[in-house]
Amino acid sequence: MFVEVCGQQGVQTLLLLWCLSLSAADLSWPCPQKCTCRQETLEINCSSKHLTNVPEGLPNNGKRLDLSGNRLKTLGRRQFYGMSKLEDLDLGENIISMIEVEAFQGLKNLKFLRIKNNRLKIIPVGVFSGLSNLRSLDLSKNEILVFLDYTFQEMGNLREMNAGENDLVFISQRAFVGLQSLQELIVDRSNLTSIPTEAFSQLQSLSKMRLRRLTISILPNNAFRRLHQLRTLQILQWPSLESLNSNSLIGLNLTTLVISNCNLSAVPYAALRHLGYLRYLDLSYNPITSIQGNLLGEMLRLQEFHLAGGSLLRIEPGAFRGLVNFRLLNVSSNRLTTLEESAFHSVGNLETLRLDRNPLTCDCRLLWVVRRRFRLNFNGRQPSCSSPELVRKREFRDFSDAELPIVFICKQPRIVDRQTQEASVDEGTNVQFECKADGYPQPSITWLSPHQTQIGSVGRIRVLANGSLELRCAQVQDSGTYLCTAANPAGNDSISASLQVRSFPRNYTSSYFSDDAWIETSLPPSTNSSAEVSNPYPFDAKTLVIATTMGFLSFLSSVAICFVFM
Ligand SMILES: *[C@@H]1O[C@H](CO)[C@@H](O)[C@H](O)[C@H]1NC(C)=O
Ligand SMILES: *[C@@H]1O[C@H](CO)[C@@H](O)[C@H](O)[C@H]1NC(C)=O
Ligand SMILES: *[C@@H]1O[C@H](CO)[C@@H](O)[C@H](O)[C@H]1NC(C)=O
Ligand SMILES: *[C@@H]1O[C@H](CO)[C@@H](O)[C@H](O)[C@H]1NC(C)=O
Ligand SMILES: *[C@@H]1O[C@H](CO)[C@@H](O)[C@H](O)[C@H]1NC(C)=O
Ligand SMILES: *[C@@H]1O[C@H](CO)[C@@H](O)[C@H](O)[C@H]1NC(C)=O
Ligand SMILES: *[C@@H]1O[C@H](CO)[C@@H](O)[C@H](O)[C@H]1NC(C)=O
Ligand SMILES: *[C@@H]1O[C@H](CO)[C@@H](O)[C@H](O)[C@H]1NC(C)=O
Ligand SMILES: *[C@@H]1O[C@H](CO)[C@@H](O)[C@H](O)[C@H]1NC(C)=O
Repeated sequence: MFVEVCGQQGVQTLLLLWCLSLSAADLSWPCPQKCTCRQETLEINCSSKHLTNVPEGLPNNGKRLDLSGNRLKTLGRRQFYGMSKLEDLDLGENIISMIEVEAFQGLKNLKFLRIKNNRLKIIPVGVFSGLSNLRSLDLSKNEILVFLDYTFQEMGNLREMNAGENDLVFISQRAFVGLQSLQELIVDRSNLTSIPTEAFSQLQSLSKMRLRRLTISILPNNAFRRLHQLRTLQILQWPSLESLNSNSLIGLNLTTLVISNCNLSAVPYAALRHLGYLRYLDLSYNPITSIQGNLLGEMLRLQEFHLAGGSLLRIEPGAFRGLVNFRLLNVSSNRLTTLEESAFHSVGNLETLRLDRNPLTCDCRLLWVVRRRFRLNFNGRQPSCSSPELVRKREFRDFSDAELPIVFICKQPRIVDRQTQEASVDEGTNVQFECKADGYPQPSITWLSPHQTQIGSVGRIRVLANGSLELRCAQVQDSGTYLCTAANPAGNDSISASLQVRSFPRNYTSSYFSDDAWIETSLPPSTNSSAEVSNPYPFDAKTLVIATTMGFLSFLSSVAICFVFM
């Protein structure tokens, strides 16, 4: 623009002289028309000038060349040859769809190359030849479909590459050969449907990798093997990722792992356990419903655990046991009603706790949090009570010390109706023992069998939803004393019930009601005896079919006779 003004006013001698003196200064550093050049920084800025070709006459000693935001379509062979001092080349936001082999030949000092936001579909092998000092390559937002073998092979100094937001469907096994210095790789939104394990395994120096928006449902075993230097792995927004195979992260020694906005319904304990140097784990925005006890303890150095925006209903006692360095828990926006102190190895080390946006029940289980309400860092988000009604929506910091022993209380369980339960029954009978308790919070009921094993909620012998113990089709070996315990954080209460099962006299047992048959129908087969396999039911199928058929036929015939009489 400045040059134009000079041209119009050129008739005036004074200005002409001034212009001449300026262009004389420019002569020593020729700048292409339309571009702005700053000799002191050796910058050539041709950004947003509607250029359709790389301008002629670029100064050979330029260090930075900005060609972004133009209409460049192709780059020819040796397009920048001679600019051996160039360190930074920006070709972003053009419409480049074709780069010829050796286009960058001669740029032996180039460190930064940006080809972001163009229309590249394919990168012929050899395009990047000569870029032996390149540090950073941005290929994001193109339409690249594949990386062919040896595409990057001369880029032994490349440190970071952004290959995101392309249509990548395939990365050839040897595509990354030669990238022995690559430390950071970004692959955001590709159309890959599997992890290019073999290609990745060339990246011996890789320390950080981000894989966003891939369509993969299970992370396979050995997915990242040989990435021994990888410390940070980010798996983000894989909406169909439902699980990690137990050896999927094997070979990795991570310090930071993020698997967020995926579809995991459980913490992938088995896959994580070997990560003894992991310090930061983020599983936020996955539909995970619980953190189980005693399964994270092998990640000795874990300091931070984030699971915000999940579906957490429960964090079990011992969830973070063994984690002596643990100092931050972020479980904001879940469905937790409480968080017990017993989940932690030692709450004394806990510095930051995000527990807001959970339907918390304020009772004795949260007393440890509210007591530390001025010491713990809630990151500006106070937890608040959701129940009991009396303190609904109150934030923890609003409670006075005097209120704590009134609000944050529990009542020890007490089993109601303590009459001794004894039953003496014949084999095959159904029996129920009751166990009801009050207390606050509502106590949980467990039953122990005479063999001291905890009874579950399915099977022939099971605990019903209301706490009663049900034994269907009692067996002689079920005899003994059963123990019901009602427990809540304030304590427990127990009651026992005894059962005596008489065996059937043998000669009373009809052939239709053999012991085997009962075992067969009430329990899954527990033995492999051939007799049972060949005849699992008291009467065989053939008899049954004939019997029913005959009944049906006689019915039909009576109907027929009726019709005749009518
Ligand atoms: C080139 O100029 C544009 C404005 O015209 C500016 O936004 C851009 O940052 C400049 N490039 C460099 C490398 O300075
Ligand atoms: C890649 O995925 C996007 C969205 O999922 C789709 O629109 C596009 O057509 C896919 N490209 C290829 C080459 O499959
Ligand atoms: C996530 O998993 C659930 C079942 O676990 C499934 O119904 C749902 O379709 C999955 N979502 C996606 C996006 O794959
Ligand atoms: C794992 O990484 C940590 C921290 O980066 C390092 O101290 C340790 O030596 C590494 N272990 C192995 C087996 O590479
Ligand atoms: C907890 O997670 C939320 C959601 O990911 C995030 O915004 C917040 O910064 C995290 N808090 C801390 C203390 O890291
Ligand atoms: C418990 O539930 C079972 C089956 O639902 C019922 O038969 C039993 O009477 C209930 N017991 C009590 C004490 O409510
Ligand atoms: C019941 O409480 C006692 C101490 O009061 C404790 O030793 C025992 O482990 C508790 N039992 C259960 C099942 O919680
Ligand atoms: C079996 O039957 C015999 C005679 O039919 C009878 O004497 C005997 O008492 C029965 N045994 C039992 C255990 O009922
Ligand atoms: C049934 O037999 C198979 C092979 O003979 C054996 O592996 C299995 O453990 C047996 N099952 C039971 C319940 O005995």
